Amino acid sequence: MASQPLPLRALAANVLLAVENGQSLSQCLPPALTRLAPNERPVLQALCYGTCRWFHRLEGELGGRLKKPLRKPDRVVHHLMLVALFQLRFSQQANYAVLNESVEACKALNKPHLTGLVNGVLRAAEREGAPEPANDASRFSHPEWIVEKLRHNWPEDWQHILGANNAQAPMTLRVNALRFNREEYLALLEKAGIGATPTVFAPMGIQLATPVPVDQLPWFADGAVSVQDEAAQLCTTLLDLAPGQRVLDACAAPGGKTCAILESCGELQEVVAIDESADRLPRVQENLDRLDLDASLKQADAADTDSWWDGQPFDRILLDVPCSATGVVRRHPDIKLLRRESDITPLAAIQLGLLKAMWSILKPGGRLVYATCSVFPQENHRIIQRFLKQQESAVLIEPDVQWGRDMGAGRQLLPDPDSHDGFFYAVLEKPEP
Ligand SMILES: C[S@@+](CC[C@H](N)C(=O)[O-])C[C@H]1O[C@@H](n2cnc3c(N)ncnc32)[C@H](O)[C@@H]1O
Repeated sequence: MASQPLPLRALAANVLLAVENGQSLSQCLPPALTRLAPNERPVLQALCYGTCRWFHRLEGELGGRLKKPLRKPDRVVHHLMLVALFQLRFSQQANYAVLNESVEACKALNKPHLTGLVNGVLRAAEREGAPEPANDASRFSHPEWIVEKLRHNWPEDWQHILGANNAQAPMTLRVNALRFNREEYLALLEKAGIGATPTVFAPMGIQLATPVPVDQLPWFADGAVSVQDEAAQLCTTLLDLAPGQRVLDACAAPGGKTCAILESCGELQEVVAIDESADRLPRVQENLDRLDLDASLKQADAADTDSWWDGQPFDRILLDVPCSATGVVRRHPDIKLLRRESDITPLAAIQLGLLKAMWSILKPGGRLVYATCSVFPQENHRIIQRFLKQQESAVLIEPDVQWGRDMGAGRQLLPDPDSHDGFFYAVLEKPEP
C-alpha cells in the first residue's frame, strides 16, 4: 500500500528534528518542500523558520508543560508540539485548527500513543496563554551562551542585537551597475508596482517595502539585479577597485561578493574566486552565468597557497572568512540551534590563519579587506589586532565612511531591524618596499 503523504506539520517536525541533529535549514528544508504542492511550500517554510526563530522561547514553555521529556525515539513529537506552540503564540492560525491538525500529524508520524499528550499540552497552552519567560535566553529566544557573550561584549547594545536578530529581515537588492543605474531600476520597480527605496550606505542597493519572489523582479533572470544585504554590498566600496587590477575573492561561495566586485569595476584584469566547498562552488558559477560575468573558479583551501596559487601576487584581496554568522541570525535563525560556544575559538584560529596566508600573496601596495558577518569581537577586531601585532608592516586603513562603529581595528555594523545585517570590515594595506 502506498504510504500517505505526510501533513505539513509532520514535515515541519521532521525538519526541526534534523536541525537539532546538526543539519542547516538550507540543507534539510528543500527536500521537504518538494513533497508539498507549490501553494503549501511557503507555509512550511514559515513554520520552520518561525519555530527556529522562537525555539528557545518555545522550549521554555514546552519544558514547563511536560512532566518528563519524551523518549528519544519520540523526539519528533516534541518538535511537533514546538511547531504548534509557535503557531498558537506567533501566527494568525485559528487555535482549534492548530490543535486538530497537530493531533492528526502525530498519528501520521506513527505516534498514535502520544496523541493524548499532544492534545493535553496544546489545550492547556491555549487555555492558560503564554507564560512569562523565565530568563533572558527564553525572553530573547537565543541560547544562553549567545545572550551571555553579547551581554559581555556589547553591554550597551546586547538587547538591541538580540531584538534585531528576531526581526524579519528586509529584502535588499544590488543593482547590476553594468546594466542599469539605481534610479533606472527604481523606476522599473515603481512601474511594476513594487515599493522600494534606495539603501543609505550601499551605492547600488535598493530595499523593498515587502519581499517578493525574485521572478517578479524586472529583468531578474537577465541579470539586472541580485538579492544581497546592504552590509554585504559594502565590500566593494572598501576594495578601491580600478581597471587592470588582479583580484582574489578567497572565500567566495555562493558568490554574492564576487559578482558585486565584477559589476562595480568593468575592466579588472582577472577575478579569482576560491572556495573549499565542492558543494557550494557551483553556486558561484550559477550567479556568474545569470549576470553574464566571468571569474576563474578554483576549489581549494585558500590558506594552502601551494595547492592553487600561480605565484602572481594580487592587487586586491577580499577575505570573507567563515564565521559564527551571528550578524545574520535574523536571516538564518537555525544558527541559534546549530552554533556552539566551543566553535568560536577554532573559528578564530582559522580566520587568523587565512589572514596570514592571504597577506603573503598580496602585492606590495595592494589592499586586503577582511570581512565577517559576525558580531563577536573575537572574530573581528581582535583578529585584526592579533594580526597587526605579528605583522608590524601592515597598515590599517580607516575608511572614510558614515556607517558602523570604529572598533580601533576595523568597523562593526550591528544588525539593524530596519535595514542592514550585522557585519565587520577591516581594510589593510601592504606598504611598497
Ligand atoms: C561567509 S561565506 C562566503 C560568502 C561569500 N563571500 C558571498 O558573499 O557570497 C564563507 C565561505 O568560506 C568557505 N571556506 C571556509 N574555509 C575556507 C578555506 N580554508 N578556503 C576557502 N574557502 C573556505 C566556505 O565554504 C564558505 O563558502
